[in-house]
Amino acid sequence: MSSTPLNVGIVGTGIFARDDHLPAYQKNSEHFNVVAVFNRTRSKALDFAKLANVPEDKVYSTLDDIMSDPHVDYIDALLPVQYNVQTLQKAIEYNKPMIMEKPIAATMEQAREFVELTDKTDLPIAIAENWLNLSIVYEAKKHIQRIGKIVGFTHTFTGPNSKTGKYKATSWRQHAENLGGSLSDGGVHQIAILTDLLGDFESVSAFTTKVDTNDQMPDAFFASIKLKSGAVGNYTYGTRFGATKKSISMKIYGQEGSVLLQLNNRDAPVIRVNIGDCKENAKEEEVYTINQDDTYGIAGEMLNFYEAVTKKNKNIIRANPRTAFHHLACIDAMLKSSDDNGNNVKVETI
Ligand SMILES: NC(=O)c1ccc[n+]([C@@H]2O[C@H](COP(=O)([O-])OP(=O)(O)OC[C@H]3O[C@@H](n4cnc5c(N)ncnc54)[C@H](OP(=O)(O)O)[C@@H]3O)[C@@H](O)[C@H]2O)c1
Repeated sequence: MSSTPLNVGIVGTGIFARDDHLPAYQKNSEHFNVVAVFNRTRSKALDFAKLANVPEDKVYSTLDDIMSDPHVDYIDALLPVQYNVQTLQKAIEYNKPMIMEKPIAATMEQAREFVELTDKTDLPIAIAENWLNLSIVYEAKKHIQRIGKIVGFTHTFTGPNSKTGKYKATSWRQHAENLGGSLSDGGVHQIAILTDLLGDFESVSAFTTKVDTNDQMPDAFFASIKLKSGAVGNYTYGTRFGATKKSISMKIYGQEGSVLLQLNNRDAPVIRVNIGDCKENAKEEEVYTINQDDTYGIAGEMLNFYEAVTKKNKNIIRANPRTAFHHLACIDAMLKSSDDNGNNVKVETI
């Protein structure tokens, strides 16, 4: 069945817009057509426009100009997240649906304001949390149902520091205004898949540490977590360690078995399922290699937003503002717990 493409206006033509969102739109040209751009530095907008085949008269010089273009069906904003709330206010003023990058905001105060603003409008507004659309997450859900009551989990995302990483060099990351810096910039992805699979956090006890002395703030978490379901577990996150192999895994323990997600191989993650209530009753391990699409969930998030915009239904957005609020609130609670010598902190709700 053919579909009518939506016309997309890109706000913020930095690394992620150029290397990830634009290619994902171009691969899905039956659904999307990038028609306009705006960037603070115009020369970068012009370079992006060439790649996207956007004519120069659609390279705008202000946010108001791109927002008021009647030909633009929705805005995709990829900015440092301290600008999310003010960009959202413009989108509401111009009645434009918008998808914007994670985390939802730079502070909890801004995150609350974001949710309150989106509660008052029927416009589809999404947070671009692509990890919620990873194929392994959908597959894992089927197996988690097979292992009985979930009692606990261990979740690890650790990796070596890099001196040359393309993201680390960006000035807004080096002088981070978003709470926790890299701990929320990258850490919300892990919270997103953890909570999507096992449900919301209730409270946390955590310690942070600073590995890279050049970092402004702590760059690794070691946390114990209690979920609203009653299950408990550990979450370890840090990408600034000394030489170590990247390790991304989540093991979920049930009374009738366990499910292990191994995400080290980005293109072919693996799920291992062990069924049985004890060693003696254990069935042979099941191993599934998952085909991950090469946009790493971005195409899925865009198609979900396409549906919300075309059906004018904000309620079908997977990464909606309330969900993204919870992801940031979990990071905030971990930071507060660490500041309070690891004492247990309840995760803020809205
Ligand atoms: N989902 C993911 O896996 C993922 C991965 C990477 C990044 N991201 C997100 O994508 C967004 C952009 O990140 P990036 O890595 O692409 O960073 P980037 O290359 O530094 O791009 C940032 C963009 O924001 C613009 N900008 C910066 N300060 C601004 C201001 N005061 N007013 C208006 N525009 C401003 C920059 O414009 P100039 O050209 O003028 O500097 C640039 O276009 C961030 O929210 C980040 O969290 C998500």
